[in-house]
Amino acid sequence: MPAIRLFAGSVYGTALEVAQDIEEALEDQGFDVRYFPQPTLSDFTGDGDNSAVLLVTATTGEGELPGNLLPLYQQLMDTLPQQPGRIGGVIVLGDSAYGDTFCAAGNLLEELMQQLAYTPVCPSLRIDAADTPEPATVAVPWALTWARRVTEAPQG
Ligand SMILES: Cc1cc2nc3c(=O)[nH]c(=O)nc-3n(C[C@H](O)[C@H](O)[C@H](O)COP(=O)(O)O)c2cc1C
Repeated sequence: MPAIRLFAGSVYGTALEVAQDIEEALEDQGFDVRYFPQPTLSDFTGDGDNSAVLLVTATTGEGELPGNLLPLYQQLMDTLPQQPGRIGGVIVLGDSAYGDTFCAAGNLLEELMQQLAYTPVCPSLRIDAADTPEPATVAVPWALTWARRVTEAPQG
């Protein structure tokens, strides 16, 4: 089974819980999941391996990334280490009550992944707290589908 690197950006803990549920579900399916609560650049780029990267993030402030993901995001944007052929996925938590900035952290991560030349295998998942009080009920099935596509995708 392919290895998956899992990252979570959270202010109040919801995205962390979602990431933990995803980690468990993927491990139950036999995936080798590595979870990085305070990720560094090398955690993200790996040691030259070709593992897929799954980002789970809340949106905070006015459409911003949570503080625990910001240093990594800024380092990646500054250095743009190219990862062609590697698969990425993005799950975003937000609340439509925030209007124009609904799930805007996801837009930042999608743009980042594009700039790093990651290959998406599914459109990103946006979860609205206004209609989905238990985000893991949507996020876990999405992550399992995403991971299945990782196994099916040609490895670059
Ligand atoms: C101070 C604050 C600012 C927020 N700003 C946004 C926002 O701009 N856009 C959005 O879609 N959701 C926004 N949210 C909603 C959160 O993204 C949502 O509640 C999420 O589930 C929180 O996840 P967490 O517990 O992992 O931090 C905000 C929530 C708070 C408390």
